[in-house]
Amino acid sequence: MNDATPGTMGKRKPMRRLLPGLAVQDGLIRHPFDLEFGVRTSGLVAGRHLTAGHRNDRHATAYYAVAPSVFRSILVRWRRCRPQAPLDAFTFVDLGAGMGRAMLLAAEFPFRAVIGVELHPLLARIARKNLALWRAAERARAPMSLVCGDAAEFKLPPGPCVVFMFNPFGAPVLRRLLKSWSQSFTDGEGQLDILYVNNEQEHVLEGQPGFARLFQGQIRRSHADTVADRRILSNQPEAEYATTPWEDCSVYRWVGTTNAGEQRSWAREAGPKRSEAWKRR
Ligand SMILES: C[S@@+](CC[C@H](N)C(=O)[O-])C[C@H]1O[C@@H](n2cnc3c(N)ncnc32)[C@H](O)[C@@H]1O
Repeated sequence: MNDATPGTMGKRKPMRRLLPGLAVQDGLIRHPFDLEFGVRTSGLVAGRHLTAGHRNDRHATAYYAVAPSVFRSILVRWRRCRPQAPLDAFTFVDLGAGMGRAMLLAAEFPFRAVIGVELHPLLARIARKNLALWRAAERARAPMSLVCGDAAEFKLPPGPCVVFMFNPFGAPVLRRLLKSWSQSFTDGEGQLDILYVNNEQEHVLEGQPGFARLFQGQIRRSHADTVADRRILSNQPEAEYATTPWEDCSVYRWVGTTNAGEQRSWAREAGPKRSEAWKRR
């Protein structure tokens, strides 16, 4: 077999080891989180480059890791929404885990387990290395594992779950997930909360019976994260993505589909502050 590409005079093109957006020549600047903890979660990979040969590749938005300050704030918001079990009974699931930054941050809390699901094999491989570093540094207070596969196929583990999503995919994948969760729960019994950061497909959740919104609003990045993200994004060669000092976020809870009116008012009471939880309805 001849490896030479026609027109290159037999010279092989150097194989690209990294995805576009993860190399210094693509404008990569490391986030302070990586510099502080010696992990690798920085970079911005446009959705069109996230091709793993899967039919849901086309719905992937992009790879970019969540701002640590936004992650920590949404966790505080969620805990104010009176979760239905103690934190150590919940499994934290990051759908679209990328290189695992949200998983690392979650594992600083004593969850029952922290699970990530990532479609792209290279990102999944890097995430596993980060998890190993986190464990070695004794920062993990919860067992962590990463599944390389499609979030739409992932079955939630038994027991209470809190699902985190940082705008990982488009409406078709989210719709499919919500439908399969709704079918798997006996009414009112599923203890599932959803934390949705950069909630671009909010309308899909709003339109899905059985889920009640407990919070919707903007969560601000810390000053340090704002400066870091601005610096990182302004260095993109194609200036394709922009950043704001906040993320639009929401928190949802599965409340079941029977007695929808009653369930909604119950969820409203569970929310942090009435006016805040429902302000943009
Ligand atoms: C914006 S990044 C979020 C990374 C991580 N959650 C964080 O906050 O640091 C979204 C990730 O979702 C992944 N993704 C997109 N579609 C997916 C799917 N159907 N199943 C699993 N992962 C998916 C992308 O490859 C990308 O790594």
